[in-house]
Amino acid sequence: MLGFLKLMLSLRINNVKITAMKSIAIIYGSSTEHTKNAAEKIAAELADYTPSLSDIYDGDEAPFHSNEVLILGVSTWGVQDLQDDWNDFYPKLEKMDLSGKTVALFGMGDASIYPSSFVDGMGILYEIVVAKGATVIGQVSREGYDFEYSRALVDGQFVGLPLDDDTEPELTDERIAAWVEILKPWLK
Ligand SMILES: Cc1cc2nc3c(=O)[nH]c(=O)nc-3n(C[C@H](O)[C@H](O)[C@H](O)COP(=O)(O)O)c2cc1C
Repeated sequence: MLGFLKLMLSLRINNVKITAMKSIAIIYGSSTEHTKNAAEKIAAELADYTPSLSDIYDGDEAPFHSNEVLILGVSTWGVQDLQDDWNDFYPKLEKMDLSGKTVALFGMGDASIYPSSFVDGMGILYEIVVAKGATVIGQVSREGYDFEYSRALVDGQFVGLPLDDDTEPELTDERIAAWVEILKPWLK
């Protein structure tokens, strides 16, 4: 009898845990796999939340509709330019209704060679998801980043997590780990 009660209790605890967690999709666009690698690290950090992981190259809209939290990763290729696969997907984003969705953004760039357009792509994604009604979480202080201008700066802070695997790859893991902790309160 005691064993049965313990089993029921554990099922209820498990059940509560599962239903209390939000569904999360990590969606990235990546040309030379830096953003992809970061997306995989974020997925590993959030393993307890069992996020889905997909490449925007596939053009699949389903993860946007079937998840409450969207973690979107994009690199920047040229001044004020999105990564190619996000660029191709952009018309679909323009037609989406993202109201009620929670979005967190991470952007891969190179502050050393492109200090005047550092992680601009993240700023472009921010603008479209906000226009489509999403609530953006996970803003990051600009402190510790050496650059001149970024479209991803709003009200003096980054709209998401900037990463720089070209110049500061040694900081990527700790930046991701710290950022994921910022996100966690919104994932329950
Ligand atoms: C031609 C070219 C243009 C780039 N333009 C920018 C830029 O404007 N801003 C920036 O932050 N990074 C820029 N980068 C750096 C890339 O965003 C960086 O290499 C990134 O890690 C690529 O990520 P991915 O492999 O996931 O696409 C550029 C890189 C190249 C090769």
